[in-house]
Amino acid sequence: MNILVTGGAGYIGSHTCVALLEAGHSVIVADNLNNSKAETIDKIKQITNTEITFYQIDVTDETAVGAIFSQHEINGVIHFAGLKAVGESVEKPLEYYCNNLVSTMVLAKACQKYNVSRFVFSSSAAVYGDNTVPFVETMNLLPTTNPYGETKAMCERILTDIVKVNPAFSVSLLRYFNPVGAHESGLIGEAPNGIPNNLMPYVTQVAKGKLKKLKVFGNDYPTVDGTGVRDYIHVVDVAEGHVAALDHLMGGVHIYNLGTGRGTSVLELVSAFAEATEIKVPYEIADRRPGDIASCYADASKAKRELGWVAKRDIVAMCRDAWRFENKLL
Ligand code: NAD
Ligand code: UD1
Repeated sequence: MNILVTGGAGYIGSHTCVALLEAGHSVIVADNLNNSKAETIDKIKQITNTEITFYQIDVTDETAVGAIFSQHEINGVIHFAGLKAVGESVEKPLEYYCNNLVSTMVLAKACQKYNVSRFVFSSSAAVYGDNTVPFVETMNLLPTTNPYGETKAMCERILTDIVKVNPAFSVSLLRYFNPVGAHESGLIGEAPNGIPNNLMPYVTQVAKGKLKKLKVFGNDYPTVDGTGVRDYIHVVDVAEGHVAALDHLMGGVHIYNLGTGRGTSVLELVSAFAEATEIKVPYEIADRRPGDIASCYADASKAKRELGWVAKRDIVAMCRDAWRFENKLL
């Protein structure tokens, strides 16, 4: 199939392009490079030895999106393009609502106009709010604490409403847990600008000597060792989940958790990193981070049952691949 991948130069999008190409699909990337680099497109080609078409456009631009749909016979859309920094979304809510909602609506409209019936959307475990773990797709969603999470919940509702009146339009809402790691080539991965907010890139940068010490945000949560528990998932497993979701689209809305189903605490991740790299990352216990929840992990059984997809790579492999990528960064 010819798949339009929005945000395909980004972290999860680039790994998904590789997985799509390896599965025999053709890929057209639309990305404004707001949080990524054009070199990533070359790296995707290098890994797969396959050509892809790249358009540097903003996917909120209806005319530019329409031009792609009119020039290519698109069979499906995977919509990654979006702004994703939680803290920034609190500072710049209008930018987040405009970018994340308008892009989704523009793409859905183009799909209707050009009779494209397959649509895969990047949602987030953030939509569960502080529910009881493990999070199951059938749970009532709780309010999220920031505009970023709200945009994900709203896009889920918009796409669901569209399907209600167009049952042939087939949508997969993929709720990712905590994607980490990098492609095993070390050529693509996540390189956040400035000081990272997320745990894994912070750990690799401390290990590299770019940062002094990890701050562990709270050790008094009701978890195995008091530190926050998350469901870290290898980004290549997330990418493969998209290929499976695309292959199984058959009308209607389908929601899937993309997680491993296993929770890992901050201190367990630090130990796994030491196992993978023989580096003991120095850390200190700090205050809880506002907005954090104690535990977040998936019930991943629906994706296994319906898509035949399971996350295959363990936490040590995630640390090893994240570390390889950190070492290949200039
Ligand atoms: P990313 O920032 O690396 O990739 C997003 C890409 O979209 C970037 O290349 C950026 O330049 C592009 N983009 C943003 N707005 C655009 C626009 N209007 N037009 C064209 N391109 C645009 O982020 P990622 O980690 O790869 O995340 C991909 C998607 O998955 C996002 O929607 C994100 O919200 C969602 N998600 C990510 C995580 C995570 O932990 N990384 C977790 C849950 C959900
Ligand atoms: C963050 C986002 C969430 C997004 C997810 C995906 C916030 C509030 N939430 O979630 O919307 O979907 O990333 O990647 O930003 N930690 C430390 N020290 C650090 C960094 C993190 O102890 O320097 C702890 C956190 O308290 C948490 C765990 O590590 O317990 C994971 O944190 P992080 O990587 O930021 O992910 P989330 O908080 O799950």
